[in-house]
Amino acid sequence: MAKDMDKKANISFEGQSLEFPIYSPTLGPDVIDISKLYGTGGVFTYDPGFTSTASCESAITFIDGDKGELLYRGYPIDQLAEKSHFLEVCYLLLYGELPTNAELDDFENRVTRHTMLHEQMTNFFRGFRRDAHPMAIICGVQGAMSSFYHDSTDISDPWQREVASIRMIAKLPTVVAWAYKYSIGQPFVYPRNDLDYASNFLRMCFSVPAEDYEVNPILSRAMDRIFTLHADHEQNASTSTVRLAGSSGANPFACIAAGIACLWGPAHGGANEAALSMLREIGTVDQIPEYIRRAKDKSDPFRLMGFGHRVYKNFDPRAKVMKQSADEVLGLLGIENNPTLQVAKELERIALEDDYFIEKKLYPNVDFYSGIILDAMGFPTTMFTPIFALARTVGWIAQWKEMIADENQRIGRPRQLYVGEAHRNYVDAEKR
Ligand code: CMC
Repeated sequence: MAKDMDKKANISFEGQSLEFPIYSPTLGPDVIDISKLYGTGGVFTYDPGFTSTASCESAITFIDGDKGELLYRGYPIDQLAEKSHFLEVCYLLLYGELPTNAELDDFENRVTRHTMLHEQMTNFFRGFRRDAHPMAIICGVQGAMSSFYHDSTDISDPWQREVASIRMIAKLPTVVAWAYKYSIGQPFVYPRNDLDYASNFLRMCFSVPAEDYEVNPILSRAMDRIFTLHADHEQNASTSTVRLAGSSGANPFACIAAGIACLWGPAHGGANEAALSMLREIGTVDQIPEYIRRAKDKSDPFRLMGFGHRVYKNFDPRAKVMKQSADEVLGLLGIENNPTLQVAKELERIALEDDYFIEKKLYPNVDFYSGIILDAMGFPTTMFTPIFALARTVGWIAQWKEMIADENQRIGRPRQLYVGEAHRNYVDAEKR
């Protein structure tokens, strides 16, 4: 963070004028440091939804919403999606640089050798209702990891933080695959070390003891790309949740469980499930105008799921890659005439020409096409958000580690604009 000595912000109110430093980031708008505002001026700022507030310093991910740009450690997402792969991206997010071959081998080896779950965890899974949503299971199992891996919960020990990080990145695919297997009544499939990260996950989801699952390299590449595109997204709701939970000193397994819980919401990670359900509900191209009309109607709560983004006000660069992947996967499977894909493409075309969507800068986001790919691979909609959680785990961990290592880190404690009753005296029940 560079403090710009020439730039200062003055805030004047009620006869006093206060001066605050301005910091210039590597990229993005300047930031006014108002951390001393309450101490010197006795007032808070009010910013619901944090639309104008930087909650931390970070060197991991950068988004330029107007340009439609997403960088991981400075590298554009489209280059990483095309040339890199998920575990290399994990290394980049965690340690800040692309690995050498030797560093990557060592990292992949460490992840691969931590993919098994403590055997007792199979009992834990079996405690859930058969019809439980996989996100509910994953939330619970992730939280329970702090009891199974208690030897890596001391956040003051860098070695334990590192072990916990590797454990979570390695074990989440197993947890997510097992949540799926449990929900469909099939036996758990154990990880295999000779497969890459994405192929191993696909096999754990789709193999059965009676018949092994041959992983198609195009599908595993598409899966890996989905992981890469979802790996981090700076200070979004679930990442901020992880940071806030971690700021109290909570252990990393508990913090990531908090992130998973937040991701589940339909305005965040749950949107991919909602987007595919919506495309199916629309069903045919001729129904699209009616749904566009509803999306524009203020008295109708309906929104076009997979459209719009808090930060991207041009296009979502992840959606572009995802659309290309959808074409590849459906082409490979010989279902390029899939009606849902046709509805999605036509909906996108119509919405992008519509004044309402143009004025409000609403573009397809990452979730618009990801559901179509996952559906074509054979995943039910309930697995979409778990797959997002699996991929985002590395981002949450990188952000959590960055926060713990920050010397200025303090417990997160927002203030409020209180609008409730002022003082009043207790009234006995018989007098109310
Ligand atoms: N369909 C119709 N209108 C919309 C939509 C939509 N999908 N999204 C926003 N608007 C309108 C909204 O009604 C508002 O209109 P007005 O100014 O007249 O009140 C305006 O656009 C601004 O919307 P907002 O809700 O104030 O914007 P936000 O930044 O708070 O919300 C969002 C961003 C992603 C929650 C929202 O666009 C949305 O609900 N989209 C659908 C859900 C979705 O696809 N979420 C996935 C996000 S990407 C994955 C992730 O990062 O988790």
